[in-house]
Amino acid sequence: MSDSIIGAGPIGSGPRRIDGQRKVTGAAPYAADHHPDNMAYGYGVFSTIARGTVTGLDLDAARQSPGVIDIFHHDHFPELHRSPASFAQGNKVEETRLPFEDNHIYYEGQFVALVVADTFENARAAARKVSVSYKSSDAIANLDQGVKAHGTTSGSGNHERGDAAGNFDGAAHSIDVTYTTPVETHNPMEMHASVASWEGDRLTIFESSQGVVVQRNALAKIFGLPPSHVRVESPFIGSGFGSKLWMWPHAVAASAAAREIGRPVQLVVPRPQMFTTTGHRPETRQRLRLATDESGRLVSLRHESINTTSFTDQYVETCGSVTKSLYSCPNLLVSHETTQVNRGTPTSMRAPGAAPGLFALESAIDEMAHEIGVDPLEFRMNNYADRDESLDLDFSSNHIREATEKAAEKFGWQDRNPEVGSMREGHEIIGYGMAACNWEALKRECEARVSLRADGTAFVTCATQDIGTGTYTIIAQTVSELTGLPLEKVTVRLGDTSYPAGPVSGGSWATATTLPAIAAATREAIKELKGYATSEKGDFKDVDSDSLTFENGQLTHDGQRVDYVDVLKGQRLASADGHAHTKGADDKYSYRSFGAHFVEVRWDPGISNLRVARVVSAIDVGRVINSMTARNQVEGAIVMGLGMAHFEATEYDARNGRPVNNNYAEYVVPVHADQPPEVEVILLDYPDLAFNEFGARGIGEIGITGMAAAVANAVHHATGKRIRDLPIFKEKLM
Ligand code: MOS
Repeated sequence: MSDSIIGAGPIGSGPRRIDGQRKVTGAAPYAADHHPDNMAYGYGVFSTIARGTVTGLDLDAARQSPGVIDIFHHDHFPELHRSPASFAQGNKVEETRLPFEDNHIYYEGQFVALVVADTFENARAAARKVSVSYKSSDAIANLDQGVKAHGTTSGSGNHERGDAAGNFDGAAHSIDVTYTTPVETHNPMEMHASVASWEGDRLTIFESSQGVVVQRNALAKIFGLPPSHVRVESPFIGSGFGSKLWMWPHAVAASAAAREIGRPVQLVVPRPQMFTTTGHRPETRQRLRLATDESGRLVSLRHESINTTSFTDQYVETCGSVTKSLYSCPNLLVSHETTQVNRGTPTSMRAPGAAPGLFALESAIDEMAHEIGVDPLEFRMNNYADRDESLDLDFSSNHIREATEKAAEKFGWQDRNPEVGSMREGHEIIGYGMAACNWEALKRECEARVSLRADGTAFVTCATQDIGTGTYTIIAQTVSELTGLPLEKVTVRLGDTSYPAGPVSGGSWATATTLPAIAAATREAIKELKGYATSEKGDFKDVDSDSLTFENGQLTHDGQRVDYVDVLKGQRLASADGHAHTKGADDKYSYRSFGAHFVEVRWDPGISNLRVARVVSAIDVGRVINSMTARNQVEGAIVMGLGMAHFEATEYDARNGRPVNNNYAEYVVPVHADQPPEVEVILLDYPDLAFNEFGARGIGEIGITGMAAAVANAVHHATGKRIRDLPIFKEKLM
């Protein structure tokens, strides 16, 4: 069965997103586009201190404000239960504290009250009239202050092999360098939003969510309901980048308020609070110690990181996750520690761990190569691991050398003069830099349902989501591939917990997880169809159903062809249906994706201008299901990586822990004018059939990993300045 999935159908081609037209014409409903009858609007009142307690709330003016229905706060809120927040049980949340649980303040921008009114404007106007008094304590405002105040706590994902310390001193060459990365905040265009309604003890909530099933399970725990009494819907999402993987306090607040007032409630998180109460990528400090022998082979590698977390929960940014297995090194230590600060709880942001981790590792590799006078490409080729030494397993499929070579050739790396600042054109100094990229390939269990209908269409349901990446489209491609139905005859419905349980859209695992379930359900539907065709009343009643073939929407045997629609109509049946439940990945291999980025920067010292002129990336992610959406994912990740390299940093006031640039104007992300004129993505397309029958590993996150290091390495080549603290603002080069 292994590679039978791929025929002459649309898998591997590049059809446009089947939901694209609805999205660009405004016909696709996002969470806050839902307006159930009699809906009221919530608006939050948010803490203006980062640490302390609420000592009083003056609500008189707000209560008298037009349209106000109720005002919730820590003395006026129903008693709820915490979610166990278990990844294994599928009810994970990052911030386990419930909104309005008590009067404690752990971060600026924390919910301290929720005003509910008849219109959005009335709710907002009244919320601004709520006056809060606080008893404030000195905030722990950043990583340095946290470490100084109370040290660190050990995190997860640590790894040790050999004796890294013992093989460092006395090695032929060594470096000991420290990198830092700032808080980065997810800024999807669509803000977090909930629309919650109750019918008796049944809750329905529209949410901008990357994981409806997990949110349903968490809400069931929090409200003490059977999961079947909670329905979460998220048909369209204006992206999330990880911030919408797990539910945040606003969804609990909206649901509770709706139950209390007996009306549906809509609650949108304003942009400034998307910097505080819906997660962020935490600040990191990473110490890298590398040593090689005379020949330039790594003999010792230590990657020790500290990240900031909140006072309510421990979030570990696993910066060394890739370091464990990318390079061959017998003596290696990876450790993760956290320190508590007065910020909201961090969460996964595109390529969590690996994005900041590979900035440090791939910068350090460049520094090490420079130290011993070896070309950084050659240094990597000499040190790439051929098997996963951390798991003691072979890789299922690893083409990192080919990816590196292909990208290098396309980029023209051989023209690089290794001497710093030696390549010039006009006013500009040219820098070439490169870095590896890497991400784990994951696959989880999944259910799906496929119906072949008598109207000639297929109808597919799965409670996973399409966060803008193209999941609707690749699912339709899969059904089309197996049935021969054209894409426009395949209806795909996702993002609703009333469908069979599917995975969160995260970890780059949605494709590898859902497609096997979709394929299995399609085969089940075809099997049921064959059963009808070979039954007493069927067109093939004397034929063994195993000898029937299904192709191009027809059942065939011995030259006889019958349209599947006629099989169903002949028996007055509405559909042939298939349901499947597929398993997660096995542990026979280390499943990972690989690649390399090459970057050209241009530094104009006269006007202190830095720009990225070219990017060439080659990525090995297994089989590509949709060549267009796959390329879009890598291109988008490259741009986000440039943002990480040059622009993104959530700044907190060191005196009080308050975020300063918590808006779209001052939190800088790349705009069109910042796009490099040339971005070339090479997709290697080697099917990884040990991983799944499609050979697809997933592509959402790998593109951002290593990008910031490739830029930093190019900046060093151009300017001689080694920037170890992101982002690389131009001021740091002057
Ligand atoms: Mo991704 S950070 O797993 O949404």
